[in-house]
Amino acid sequence: MVANRIPCNQEVDAAILGKSLPFNCGRVCRNRIVKASLSERHASFDPTNFENHGLPKESLLNIYEKWGNGGFGMVFTGNIMIDMKHLEAPGNVIVSKENDSPVLRSLLKRLASALKMDGGLAIAQLNHCGRQTPEFLNPHPKSASDVKLEIDFHGMGFGKPVPLTAAEIKDEVITRFVESAKICVEAGFDGIQVHAAHGYLLAQFMSPQTNQRTDEYGGSAENRVRIVVEVYEALRKDLPKDFIIGVKVNSVEFQEGGLETSDARVMCAKLEEIGYDFVELSGGTYENLQMHHVKESTRKREAFFLEFTDKIRPVFRNTKMFVTGGFRTVEGMVKAVESGACDGIGMGRPIASEPDLPKKILAGLAKSAPDTKVNHDIFASGAAAAAQMWQASERDFTQGNGDPCDGIADLSDENIAKEFKEALEEFQNLIERNRAAGLPVPNNGILAWYPKGSKYRKSE
Ligand SMILES: Cc1cc2nc3c(=O)[nH]c(=O)nc-3n(C[C@H](O)[C@H](O)[C@H](O)COP(=O)(O)O)c2cc1C
Repeated sequence: MVANRIPCNQEVDAAILGKSLPFNCGRVCRNRIVKASLSERHASFDPTNFENHGLPKESLLNIYEKWGNGGFGMVFTGNIMIDMKHLEAPGNVIVSKENDSPVLRSLLKRLASALKMDGGLAIAQLNHCGRQTPEFLNPHPKSASDVKLEIDFHGMGFGKPVPLTAAEIKDEVITRFVESAKICVEAGFDGIQVHAAHGYLLAQFMSPQTNQRTDEYGGSAENRVRIVVEVYEALRKDLPKDFIIGVKVNSVEFQEGGLETSDARVMCAKLEEIGYDFVELSGGTYENLQMHHVKESTRKREAFFLEFTDKIRPVFRNTKMFVTGGFRTVEGMVKAVESGACDGIGMGRPIASEPDLPKKILAGLAKSAPDTKVNHDIFASGAAAAAQMWQASERDFTQGNGDPCDGIADLSDENIAKEFKEALEEFQNLIERNRAAGLPVPNNGILAWYPKGSKYRKSE
């Protein structure tokens, strides 16, 4: 039971969200709600032994059994790495020629099955982090150009990147996307999503701030999106005709010299032209991840990026368009789809709180997401989502009571949220102390915590 839901119009009919959506490749998404990617960090990390590096853990399979029973049209994995030298964080799943093995393949099969337990489509998000690879993992990552990320991101720094040569673009990027995707096909995924948003490698090519190349991959918007086009062409050539190929791109980057919506529109027109099955629009990079409301005008329409995506929308005719970021009420979702602002919506943080929110929405049992009492900035709300994923990871679906939310802390309850904030502060202090002493960050930076009174809380 959710203590508090976001206030909303109770009369709105969710029926339009239950309508199916056909893709270019012939596959059909059964409804309009997708589980957006959330980096889980529940894979093995062992860079000294490739065969045990980036393998999905049992805990990861447990999480996806909850989302796989959540009623989504598509379930996206968190970002899966195509190159172990360019991780987002320790604990990412890696699917590459270096760690390919029967064990990896059999775990991926189980992962794909978990994602689609109740009939949704299983989509693996594939990513190469480029210059956003933390420096402690790779001091000289590859990027479009040598523009260093000069920030401290939650305690992480970033090394000066080395520009990819044209040959490396083919061999180290495009070919890797294809190799990883082929393994996903064999594992039983229904499709992949190419990650070209949030400042990762492909977004580094798309942004004029990070792409200062003078070859055919730099300069005009058409040139900067070329790599995303070539990734698609290589994938389509080598993958089954009915395998879904989607992409996540930014509608805007909120930073000086970053990607503007006018460029994103030109790029999306190209993605439509070559035939991507779907485009999920988001925004921001590590330099400015605007995952909360900063303007009253966006708050009114609920989703953060609609004012930008509206300008892009007209270019899509056959490619289906999803928008992710900020959707919290059925009213907001229905209005977005009904008005034609997008074909479907993605949700991230709300479905870490409540993995079966779509099922409840489509059955008329919920009109909005839990009204979480944790700060909405990306640090606190991201930590809350990670803690809730940890809670979902602790046992498989059959061990619970048939409720995908079993054991997940309800942060819409003031008292539980207060406890969470205290636990998070304590955890942060522990991380700082460990860092200062040169010790590893505990449990891969994930707060492993149950509120007092939870039946799963170990005795003190
Ligand atoms: C903990 C966390 C991890 C995330 N990991 C990914 C990721 O791996 N890939 C991705 O495309 N987006 C990732 N995102 C962004 C989400 O997919 C989504 O775009 C964002 O949370 C906004 O949607 P929301 O307001 O519904 O949460 C992540 C967000 C959070 C909070």
